[in-house]
Amino acid sequence: MNKKDFGENFIWGVSTAAYQIEGAYLSDGKKTSIWDEFTSKPKKIYENQNGQVACDFYHRYKEDILLMKEMNITNYRFSISWSRIIPNGTGAINEAGIHFYNQVIDFCLESGITPWITLYHWDLPQALEDKGGWTSRTILEWFSEYTKVCAQRFGDRVKNWMVLNEPMVFTGAGYFLGVHAPGRTGLKNFLPAVHYATLCQALGGKILKSLIPNVNVGTTFSCSQITAHSDSDKDIRAAKRADTLINRLFIEPALGMGYPVEDLKVLKKLEKYQKPEDAENMVFDFDFIGIQNYTREVIRHSYGVPYLRAKIVPAEERNVPLTEMKWEVHPPSIRAMIAQFNSYKKVKKLIITENGAAFKDTVINGQVNDMERTQYFIDNLNQVNAAKKAGLEVSGYFAWSLTDNFEWAEGYRTRFGLVHVNYETQQRILKKSGIWFREFLKE
Ligand code: GAL
Repeated sequence: MNKKDFGENFIWGVSTAAYQIEGAYLSDGKKTSIWDEFTSKPKKIYENQNGQVACDFYHRYKEDILLMKEMNITNYRFSISWSRIIPNGTGAINEAGIHFYNQVIDFCLESGITPWITLYHWDLPQALEDKGGWTSRTILEWFSEYTKVCAQRFGDRVKNWMVLNEPMVFTGAGYFLGVHAPGRTGLKNFLPAVHYATLCQALGGKILKSLIPNVNVGTTFSCSQITAHSDSDKDIRAAKRADTLINRLFIEPALGMGYPVEDLKVLKKLEKYQKPEDAENMVFDFDFIGIQNYTREVIRHSYGVPYLRAKIVPAEERNVPLTEMKWEVHPPSIRAMIAQFNSYKKVKKLIITENGAAFKDTVINGQVNDMERTQYFIDNLNQVNAAKKAGLEVSGYFAWSLTDNFEWAEGYRTRFGLVHVNYETQQRILKKSGIWFREFLKE
């Protein structure tokens, strides 16, 4: 397999997110986000770590963009920190924050790198969370205001946009399980957050389309291949419910199919938050759909889990190869997800907007010989290539991530970078996987 196999127009890039790399958490007028607040509470994050400094991308963006250039990377996906450009979430614009992203965008363009912006990668301004955050219907107004500011200020130079990053993860982990910011739990928080995120997904798309000429608008979804633990009817039905929640909940309403209530009855409770006009307002014809895949999940029936009546059989109990996240290494998953999303006739274009793996890295003589990560990329790309050869639509691949960074609840413990970061000195070292990617992209 080499780059040519994917065709001339295939899009190659890397992805990052503001809170995970920028640091400078209160610099130049920025106010706190839900992640600043959440990480300040004890015992939420591995060793109580936080993103206050992270990779210091705020001050080192030039160095990191130049690194991308040296690595032959031609597309860069990053997110905007809402609380950096509108510190209170709504109202006054912080020009210093706008200036920072203008510099990042301009330097990418000067370096021959096409910028791809994610509007929302989980760092809601804390001021909005204090007013209800994603559980408040007013988020529709706050989100349109924010989207308009981004479109008006950056849309002259940035043509590729993604509205949300993984709504299933930020609503599930942040508003149901409470293991991510803002740490809310239960259906009473989860269901409104799901519905308003679904509406914002389409609303953001419409606003970007209306304000930016020649825009390419997408949004991104987390997804995992779902395998039933056994071929018993119970496990197969449990796997179907899990697939509905994990892979279908947010895309189907955007495609005009409504919520997949038939296959997961608890979703009927979403009706409580729905207004008659919402059904139509959830729909948007995205130019592309971004899918982000890391692993697969094996699912078995369980009476102990309310509503879902299904649970994950942890990869650790299955005697399979694992990453540092304790996720199974299972490259066929990415091909299965490409196939599953291709089965929606209305999906015009599919891009892998994240894929990657955390493994333990050791620096020896100034080098990181990360063979497992390199192999993970090769095996996953082989699957993407096979999907393409089989006639499935897939138009691009973004590796997660450029550098090691703040991995949410895992803190800095798990490293996903093609580039190693020494968090004491902020020194960057291109890992073996980064060298491999550079050579692959050169061909
Ligand atoms: C995704 C997320 C990223 C990154 C990655 C690895 O869910 O969008 O921010 O953390 O997973 O866990």
